Amino acid sequence: MTGRSNIEDANRKLYNKDRVESFNVKANRLVAKFMTSCVLQYDHSKSSKQVVDRQLFVDAEKELDVDSPEVANVSSFWDPKSTTVLDFGCGAGNISLVLKPYIHKAFGVDISEDMIDAYSQRTGFDGYACNIAEDPIPPLEGVQFDAVVTTLAFHHVEDYQLVTHKLVKYLKPGGRLFVVDFDSTNKYGSLEHCLLIHGLGHSDHDDKNRRKEVLDQLGTAHTHGFGPEIAIRTLENAGFTNIGVDSHLDVRVWPTVEEFQTMSGQTGDFARFPRDAAGRCELSHGLLLVAGQKPLS
Ligand SMILES: C[S@@+](CC[C@H](N)C(=O)[O-])C[C@H]1O[C@@H](n2cnc3c(N)ncnc32)[C@H](O)[C@@H]1O
Repeated sequence: MTGRSNIEDANRKLYNKDRVESFNVKANRLVAKFMTSCVLQYDHSKSSKQVVDRQLFVDAEKELDVDSPEVANVSSFWDPKSTTVLDFGCGAGNISLVLKPYIHKAFGVDISEDMIDAYSQRTGFDGYACNIAEDPIPPLEGVQFDAVVTTLAFHHVEDYQLVTHKLVKYLKPGGRLFVVDFDSTNKYGSLEHCLLIHGLGHSDHDDKNRRKEVLDQLGTAHTHGFGPEIAIRTLENAGFTNIGVDSHLDVRVWPTVEEFQTMSGQTGDFARFPRDAAGRCELSHGLLLVAGQKPLS
């Protein structure tokens, strides 16, 4: 079995139908609202390859209303009458749900059939389960979108450079790609996140053996190492222009222990997890957004 099929099998297994409930947890919906807001607000006038440190730190529980469909300061790129979106690594549809009032239509692609079933049920949009690196997408034969949006999927993909190349085909000339993922140069990057959310709450720097054990178990479904420089190179190599990065998009959420268990699928000992006075778990995400445009010709 190749490394690639290992990681893909691990992701299909991780994102099964028992995981759908985790997308309903408020903390996950808040993170989705934050990421989608960053995409909807992205400033397209940025010059080529510019890294803009937005230093946006959002305590989502206090600053975002998860139940309101509204997002402030949406860019004029998005048109509810016409904009079409490919949501890659769509999961159960949290991103497409936030996008919905600002677009005409979305289509979800994910490696997990269970996620696509949940995506269609929750969003009302169509989707298709496949490995985009290898499989054709029959419903999308000849179809091109105004935007491709992908959030928190690249750190699950073995070869995100190859995936980025594949995604270009599904964009109209002049169309935009938006990738949001953990920034490995951030304190709260993917490694730390994986140790917290999938690793029994053990962000355990002192216990090297435990840390290695957790990482070895997790390694099959995750990769690490996406930062501003590699993000720019990835889009450049795939032929994108007008590339820009918003770095330091930090969002913090506070799930209860029960919510955290649903989010992570873990029921272990959370005694060492960072908590507030009410006992809620502190969960920070250090993200970046990279965007680029497919050339007009
Ligand atoms: C952390 S979830 C993010 C879901 C959604 N984008 C969101 O932000 O709510 C990662 C998703 O990526 C999907 N995924 C993992 N590897 C993939 C691959 N090679 N191709 C497509 N989707 C993949 C998983 O099945 C899962 O639904």
